[in-house]
Amino acid sequence: MRYFPQHLVAGRLFHAPRALTSAFLLLLWAFAAAAQGQTGTPDADLVNRGAYVFRAGGCYECHTDTKNKGAALAGGRALPTPFGTFYAPNITPDPETGIGRWTEAQFAAAVRQGLAPDGMPYYPAFPYTSFTQIRDGDLHALWVYLRAQPAVRQANKPHDLGFPFNLRMLTWGWRLLYFHPARFTPDASQSAQWNRGAYLANALGHCGECHTPRDPLGGLETDMRYAGSNDGAEGKPVPNITPHQKNGIGTWSAQDIADFLGSGMTPEGDFAGGLMGDVIDDSTKYLTDDDRMAIAVYLKSLPPIDFRPHGKQKQ
Ligand code: HEC
Ligand code: HEC
Repeated sequence: MRYFPQHLVAGRLFHAPRALTSAFLLLLWAFAAAAQGQTGTPDADLVNRGAYVFRAGGCYECHTDTKNKGAALAGGRALPTPFGTFYAPNITPDPETGIGRWTEAQFAAAVRQGLAPDGMPYYPAFPYTSFTQIRDGDLHALWVYLRAQPAVRQANKPHDLGFPFNLRMLTWGWRLLYFHPARFTPDASQSAQWNRGAYLANALGHCGECHTPRDPLGGLETDMRYAGSNDGAEGKPVPNITPHQKNGIGTWSAQDIADFLGSGMTPEGDFAGGLMGDVIDDSTKYLTDDDRMAIAVYLKSLPPIDFRPHGKQKQ
């Protein structure tokens, strides 16, 4: 009962039994809290938390067509893949072309289940295979943050996919094979820092979606997690980021990794380009030092895998 001074509850003014009085005050407090929730002005802490989740999740990156100076979150960014080109949709609160008419439950189903409001499945170019792990509180904050963004009217561009990938129905089969809905579960045998890193890398940062090889059907080869990929998004190789000494980043310290995620500079003094440059500019550079270090600690703990995505030379 730390919300109410003891003297009010136990004071001389109140003759009713203490339990009853407390119950009454609690009820009053609940009403006040509920009324506050209905005012429509989202609480600033929640919006800030949502903004952070939004950055950690890299939502901006895919949903903003920065190359063509598109409005934030209005979609239209081309995402080339071996199956064709996807165009990320408008996720601003515009009621006609964005997600302005959606409920929070529909948003949660999209992000964590990969299901559209009409019940159709999304293509995994939208990384809900990772986002399925997002925690309830983070997802709620993300929703509140997105609702507070300016609405932009911009119609979605249809994806440009070859047959048979243009048949959205086929995604049902893909999901049976590769989609495992599950919330993030901390590993009790690991530190809080490691668990935070695992959550940021696997659930929000979806690092494995690019840094893991895919089989011919586009499913992640889970026993090769973080070992890099010969044909990542945009058809270029993606480096191995397991701590393998020769073919991974085993020679990088945790601090090197954390610094890289903040500035884009490798220990050799090179700068990340292409898609990783976008990840750093739109996402990891906004994280706290502690969070970047948590990701680094997690990556250092992965089993080293001896695999060298071709195209990337390492000594
Ligand atoms: C790697 C690129 C990528 C990232 C990162 C990404 N999205 Fe998407 N998103 C997509 C694509 C592509 C689609 C369309 C999928 C389809 O048509 O099947 C999509 C669809 C959506 C939809 C459904 C919109 C509609 O009109 O049906 C929502 C909502 C959404 N994303 C929210 C988010 C949020 C929130 C984040 C960050 C946590 C995020 N996305 C991060 C690529 C991405
Ligand atoms: C959209 C695809 C994509 C995502 C998502 C992604 N990366 Fe990368 N990453 C790349 C590419 C491509 C490179 C190579 C960049 C280059 O050669 O300049 C790279 C490079 C790296 C490197 C440097 C490796 C080296 O040997 O130089 C590290 C470390 C890294 N990424 C960590 C991460 C972490 C941690 C995350 C998640 C927070 C992440 N990446 C998410 C595509 C991605």
